[in-house]
Formats: sequence, structure tokens, C-alpha cells
Amino acid sequence: MIKKVSKLKNLKGEITIPADKSVSHRAIMFSSITKGSAIITNFSSGADCWSTLKAFRALGVEINEIDSKTIKIVSSGNLKKSIGSLDMGNSGTTTRLISGILAGQDFDSVLIGDESLSKRPMRRIIEPLSLMGADIESVDGHAPLTIKGRSLNGIVYDSKLSSAQVKSCVLLAGINKSTRGKTVYTEPVVSRNHTELLLKYLGADIKIEGNKTIVLPSELVAKDIEIVGDISSAAFFIVAGLIVEGSDFIIKNVGVNETRTGILDVVKRMNGDIEIFNKRDISGESVADIRVRYSDSLRACEISGADIPRLIDELPVIAVLASQVEGKTVVRNAEDLRNKEADRISCLVEELRKIGVQIEELPDGFEIIGKTKLKGNAELDVYHDHRLAMSFYVAGLVCEKEILINDFEWTNISFPEFESLMEKIF
Ligand code: S3P
Repeated sequence: MIKKVSKLKNLKGEITIPADKSVSHRAIMFSSITKGSAIITNFSSGADCWSTLKAFRALGVEINEIDSKTIKIVSSGNLKKSIGSLDMGNSGTTTRLISGILAGQDFDSVLIGDESLSKRPMRRIIEPLSLMGADIESVDGHAPLTIKGRSLNGIVYDSKLSSAQVKSCVLLAGINKSTRGKTVYTEPVVSRNHTELLLKYLGADIKIEGNKTIVLPSELVAKDIEIVGDISSAAFFIVAGLIVEGSDFIIKNVGVNETRTGILDVVKRMNGDIEIFNKRDISGESVADIRVRYSDSLRACEISGADIPRLIDELPVIAVLASQVEGKTVVRNAEDLRNKEADRISCLVEELRKIGVQIEELPDGFEIIGKTKLKGNAELDVYHDHRLAMSFYVAGLVCEKEILINDFEWTNISFPEFESLMEKIF
């Protein structure tokens, strides 16, 4: 589907951000390996989270839709071998987390995925799982993965990457009831900690000491889970509010877990007009409402080091923001952006240049000089990447001439409501 986007002014009103993708995945997975029944409310409608849901159905868990956003899970706590392979779709999170669960089962599984997923690096999980005694075959470090289930041993693993997917994979292998001994996982900078928070909420034997997490094999307790809104989805609206002249609106129900709020810190450093209020807790996570207003004195900043894991998914839309702030914004230490749904560094450079953004590629990030009047009048490609598609849409709102975005349906991967919510504030 080709999407036309034209310049707008005065975004106004109030929207509620749909469910967090990371927490939705985990809610299904953790409830599926827990004996008992649980209701998950405000579940994501994104295709990635439904890949997780369908995979656990295929593993014998009773998962019913009460309505489109309310899911009831009834599980014996044990999984069964699926008939045929498990389809991960486009979802790296499903693939990497489920591998940690499946490696310790008493049956074998085969994980397959789409073209983009099949290019994503899986050695990062194969290595620690193999150290735990897992038997995983891959195609040169990529899916399809053949996981030969067996009982595992706990490990002490010092990860060189700050990746929540790798961390979660290892912790899930570590809490398996058949795993022997404790698992200690450390990472350079604390990556998103939804796994730790939800495991704690469900009664796992878990200890968190800064960037070190320790788990023991655990019996989880089934509990209802309400999912907070996704700050990564809110990010498109935050940036649109800051750069579209005359905007002033409220974004409700945004998850503000500190391991995810790097974008809010960057917006403050850039002098953006943003207010966070009505902070509260839901199922172990923090949530708040955000007011965002057009800001005409935005200034550039450097984004690197410990910032990166806290805003890794927001960097494409931060690139759009950077084009509208005074000065040179530099993003460094973000080399893992090349391993996302697409190589987000080279794709951003290639596509944003088409509309007039002054962007230079770096091995581990990019530099953008603003503030630029974007000319638009171009056709942009999204490379099977939902976040690139939505970031380009936001850029289109400030381009002088209309832009066309190809294959815009990729937004369905995480945020099918994106356009209808945008139209609510037009
Ligand atoms: C995610 C972790 C991040 C993020 C992804 C979701 C998760 O990936 O980019 O969209 O839910 O654990 P990495 O762990 O590879 O950094």
C-alpha cells in the first residue's frame, strides 16, 4: 500500500497509546509456562505479538480471545511439541525469547520466519544457550533454528551486548524448572527490564543487582496482567508534536519504565516542550500521560553510550526530529541498529536524503545537521521495517511537498492503529 503524506499544522486533541509490544510478548509467554489461568488486558494488536500468541497455541496452550484486546490463557504449565514448525513471522523478540524457553523442553522445535527475520543474527542467543548445554542448529547463525530440547545447566554469563532479547532468552532458560543451578547474567548497560519485572510480578526467584540479574529455576504463579501503552509507539507522536507547527496534544497511558525513557531525556536535552504527569503503576510497570507542544527552539545534542539501549527503537524517529533542531545531532554506539528489521543506519541515510535531510552515515550511528526545510516530493521505501515506515510518515508532516511511502502496511507489525490515531489529532 502506498501512503501519501502532506504537510500539516496544529495537531490537537488527546489519544491513548495502545499496548507495549515488549510487554505483550512477555505476558503471553510467561502465562503460557505458568500453571493456572490468567487474563491479559490491553493486549497488542501488532502482528509480532500475534506471532507469539499463535506459537504458544501451537505448543498446546489454551489461548482464547475474549475480545480483540483481552486474552485468556489457561495452561498446565507444560508445553507440548508443535505439529510442524513454529512461525515467528517478522518477530525477533518472539524468536529470541521463545528459544530460551524451548531449549529446555523435552521435545524438539523448528523456528522459521520471514525474509527479514531470516537475516537477523541468532548467534547472540545460540552462544549462551549452548553454554547452558542447549543443542541448536541454525543456517549460519540465522533462522530457521532447530532446537533439540534437553535439560540445561545454569550459567554465569557476561554479555558484551546490552540486549533485552538476549538477556530474556538466557533468564527464561535459567528459570526453567528442569534447569540445574542458578543463572547469573550481566550486561554492559541495563537494557529494557520488562522480563525481570514481569517475572518478579509472577513470583519467580529473581534478584536484580544493577546490571546483574540472578535467577533460579522457578514455579511462576498465574496472575492477570494489564499491559501499559508502548513508549516506542508514542515516540512518533512525541516527535510529530514537537516539530509540527502549532501542535499541542495529550498522549495517554504511555509506559515510562526507566529502561525505555531515553527519548524523553533526549527531548528534554533538546529543549522540547514536554510534560509527564499522572504517573502510576500497572502490573509492575510505570505508566504516565504526556503533553507535548510544538517547540521552535529545539537544539541538537549527542546521543551515545548508556543512552542507546534506552532508546534504540526510537532512533529512526529521533533522526527525523534531529533534522528539525538547530545544530549537529550525533548518534554513536548504535551499531546494533544495523541488525534490526532492516539496517536502520544505511536505510535512514538513503531515504531521509531523498527528502532533503542533511545526514551522514557513521559506522555506529549517524550525524544530522539541522534545522532543514524538508523539500519532500519523493517516494520512500521502508525495507520491511515498521518503524522506518512510521518515522517517514512523521517526516512527511513537515515536508514542503507531499511524499509517498511504499509498503506502508508494514506498520501493522507493531502499530496497526498508527494512522487512525494520527488522524484523531489532525
Ligand atoms: C526488545 C528488545 C530490543 C528492541 C526490540 C524489542 C524486547 O532488541 O529493539 O524491538 O522486547 O526485548 P534488542 O534486545 O536486540 O536490543
